[in-house]
Amino acid sequence: MSVERYEKFWMWGAGVLIVLFLGAIGFSAGLQAVRPPSHLETVDPAALDAHPEFGAPSVVVRSDGAVVVTVVASMFAFAPDPIEVPANRPVTFRLTSPDVIHGFQVVGTNANAMVVPGYVSQFTMTFARPGEYAIVCNEYCGLAHHMMVGRLVVKAARP
Ligand code: CUA
Repeated sequence: MSVERYEKFWMWGAGVLIVLFLGAIGFSAGLQAVRPPSHLETVDPAALDAHPEFGAPSVVVRSDGAVVVTVVASMFAFAPDPIEVPANRPVTFRLTSPDVIHGFQVVGTNANAMVVPGYVSQFTMTFARPGEYAIVCNEYCGLAHHMMVGRLVVKAARP
């Protein structure tokens, strides 16, 4: 069987392109560490009720003064609601879900995380402006997704 010269040229060209593209994927995934940081901590989504932390989602001030908010996002609400935190202090949010993927976005701020069943998403934010903020779910999670709204109350520190 004989293969035309131009046909050979395009076959080898296509092969080189495939190797280049696969190499680019391998490079970005392996060497540039493209991986979600929230996937470091896991939790059993079927046993959240019995979990020492997520069984009773709440705002806790730890002995070193750190404010930690444990949030469970489920169809179709956030717990606790409202969430009350102090202004001008770092607040660490720890989020998970017992059912499907939800979003946790504090409107008007940079606070925004994906809430994935089986995983703990964590981020730390400082809210400079006291006031009331809406928390919205920005991942489609079911028929009442558009009703999934919570409240964050940022309280000014007492003088
Ligand atoms: Cu929860 Cu959309």
